Amino acid sequence: MKEKLKFPDNFLWGAATSSHQVEGDNKNNDWWKWEKEGKFKEASGKACSQYELFKSDFKLARSLNHNAHRFSLEWSRIEPEEGKFDKEAIEHYREVIKTLRSLEITPIVTINHFTLPLWFCEKGGWIGKRSGYLFSIFAEKVARELGEDVKYWLTVNEPIGNIHGAYVEGSWPPGRHSLKEAAMAVVNVLKAHCLAYKAIHRVYKEKGWPNPMVSLAHFTLMYTPCRLNSKPDILSTRLRHYYVNRLFINSLVTGRCIAPGMPLTFLPLKKSLDFIGLNYYARDYIHFQGFSPRKIFGEVCSLSHHGGSGKRNFLKWEIYPEGLYKILMEFKQYGLPILITENGICTNDDNERIDFIRGYLKEVGRAIKDGAPVFGYLYWSLIDNFEWTHGFSPRFGLIEVDYTTQRRTVRPSARIYAEIIKDNAIGLWSPTA
Ligand code: BGC
Repeated sequence: MKEKLKFPDNFLWGAATSSHQVEGDNKNNDWWKWEKEGKFKEASGKACSQYELFKSDFKLARSLNHNAHRFSLEWSRIEPEEGKFDKEAIEHYREVIKTLRSLEITPIVTINHFTLPLWFCEKGGWIGKRSGYLFSIFAEKVARELGEDVKYWLTVNEPIGNIHGAYVEGSWPPGRHSLKEAAMAVVNVLKAHCLAYKAIHRVYKEKGWPNPMVSLAHFTLMYTPCRLNSKPDILSTRLRHYYVNRLFINSLVTGRCIAPGMPLTFLPLKKSLDFIGLNYYARDYIHFQGFSPRKIFGEVCSLSHHGGSGKRNFLKWEIYPEGLYKILMEFKQYGLPILITENGICTNDDNERIDFIRGYLKEVGRAIKDGAPVFGYLYWSLIDNFEWTHGFSPRFGLIEVDYTTQRRTVRPSARIYAEIIKDNAIGLWSPTA
């Protein structure tokens, strides 16, 4: 008999998206403002018009056997001014959740996926003193309005990636270059998560709803030193690994944020993760650059030697499925259930997507067999969408989008994924990257 790796019963299978990347016309947030100012090569515009087309998109997902779907609420639509909530927008998302439920698709709701309402930015965005409190008011409101039909919540998406783009590299709004501000943002987002976690649980208790499962979508990346035996390269690699892969989760588990170069901070709560939402895409090779705070994390070198897969996606990120196995085995130590909230490839060759999905799912299956408590996998993304600073060229979708007609075409990889879902298993003989 051909060998297969079985996934656990009731495994969540599906795909993920985010509001600004698919909805279109999100005119009241910081990204839209920058797009209008011409700071990116392409503007999101109508994106995939999913604000209108969500029902047919979800039906397609159902036809592809998905039983879970991750999407995000657009904060700037629901709370266009501080403390003023837009009824129509709330009704819209209620309908989104209802539609998913009617198709027997479990909704996984991200409360904030990068884009911030303009009023929140005017108050300092994530470095504003009241940012955590303001975010928790929003989280409480949406939990109260939408929670009855939602079990899984992700407070924020990839805070470490967002803070890096926004406060270190400066290529994302608000375009700052300050390590001090980045450190402030880290602490504020951690606090925001804790306050939102408390608020969501409070609402569910008050309403007598079954306990929710609350986490965040955590960015992870594998790191390897450029020169395997170089102590300085190893130092920069370890530092990156700690800050990027471990700092957020460690802090939320212990209730203390401890990192070299940052003041020790106590958070309002410990154990504020009911599970770990984990995003994983690629691997970087790290080259030491010097000991100053700006240089100590090293730089990414372009070498992909010593055992690298040699395969890269459209954006040149290395395809390294084993990295996901390693991260899962490392994260197993937290003793929390793990949901893979994003994993995907942008490519113009759908055969590469087929190899990608098979290759990564084999590693997920292997990790589960070796004890990693993974309870679901969400491919990024259901449909092609607006890839932030890169615009519309990177194609991540299981479903192709024609941006002039908004026509959807199911890719062959989506059908292969649908078969794996149906089988709830991955065949070890299937060809891979
Ligand atoms: C983000 C998505 C993004 C994807 C591919 C993740 O970092 O959460 O918004 O589109 O990666 O770059």
